[in-house]
Amino acid sequence: MRIAITGAAGMLGRDLITAVEAAGHEAIAFTRADLDITDAAAVERALRRAGPDVVFNCAAWTDVDGAEAHFEEALAVNGAGAGHVARAGAACGAWTIHISSDYVFDGSKRSPYLEGDPVEPLSAYGRSKLAGERAVALEAPDRHTIVRSSWLFGAGGHCFPATILRLARDRDELRVVDDQVGCPTFTGDLATALVALGARESRPVGILHVAGSGACSWYEFAREIVAGAELRCEVRPCTTAEMPRPATRPAYSVLRSSRGNEAPVLPEWRVGLEQYMALIRVARAV
Ligand SMILES: NC(=O)c1ccc[n+]([C@@H]2O[C@H](COP(=O)([O-])OP(=O)(O)OC[C@H]3O[C@@H](n4cnc5c(N)ncnc54)[C@H](OP(=O)(O)O)[C@@H]3O)[C@@H](O)[C@H]2O)c1
Repeated sequence: MRIAITGAAGMLGRDLITAVEAAGHEAIAFTRADLDITDAAAVERALRRAGPDVVFNCAAWTDVDGAEAHFEEALAVNGAGAGHVARAGAACGAWTIHISSDYVFDGSKRSPYLEGDPVEPLSAYGRSKLAGERAVALEAPDRHTIVRSSWLFGAGGHCFPATILRLARDRDELRVVDDQVGCPTFTGDLATALVALGARESRPVGILHVAGSGACSWYEFAREIVAGAELRCEVRPCTTAEMPRPATRPAYSVLRSSRGNEAPVLPEWRVGLEQYMALIRVARAV
């Protein structure tokens, strides 16, 4: 299979290239410098030329706090841009797999969010991601899968474990919010599952929730990271109110699927974290 990837230099995009090639497919990688997805004509030309079977749209504005002051720019990428990819993909007969986010939910539930639950984003980023879901469904109604995932971490990008490791090496104590609960997701696991999904004979249309199994708060996640690295830093819990940020995050955004075998099940987030830590150790050793 020929598999195109937009946003290919990003954290998930990098792991997708590796997973595509490991599965014996051909990766056609478009970094932002190669292809700006806000340019509809450029997207159409690039995909027509590439002739992929599947397109993974990993291109996104991912600065959650920055989107509050730059909503139009975030929307151009996450909303309209996603629609351009789906339209161009459908026009050349490809299947679009678009990545969306748990931040489309308001976090008021206390049991896992399923695909059919009502969406109510709390942030500009969440609204832009929801606009993207709607644009993809509109432009490629029967040739798309929208994969909502959450709390991504991987060796190829800026992520929470990298930040915690950096801070914990410098400080004796860290305070981390304990009142936001979600599913940390290792991009290596997600990428492998996404490639298998794209290679299925019958691909699921519509929304799928795919995130690391289990759930935790950012505080619990941070403790596990610091313990895994055997650092002496003390991790203490605090509330979101004590650490105000420009964008409001859902207090609870655990994702599970109601679509049975259609949705891949990922390993527990702790297993993903162990793999991440192993990759980081190797990278620090060389
Ligand atoms: N990170 C998370 O915790 C998380 C959680 C849930 C869902 N997601 C979703 O998962 C997907 C992948 O996220 P990620 O963490 O891999 O993000 P990432 O590392 O920020 O990668 C996104 C990539 O998109 C590129 N990009 C930005 N604007 C673009 C444009 N106009 N045209 C083409 N490329 C553009 C970025 O390039 P520059 O770096 O040059 O701007 C970057 O390489 C996104 O859809 C994101 O919304 C992420």
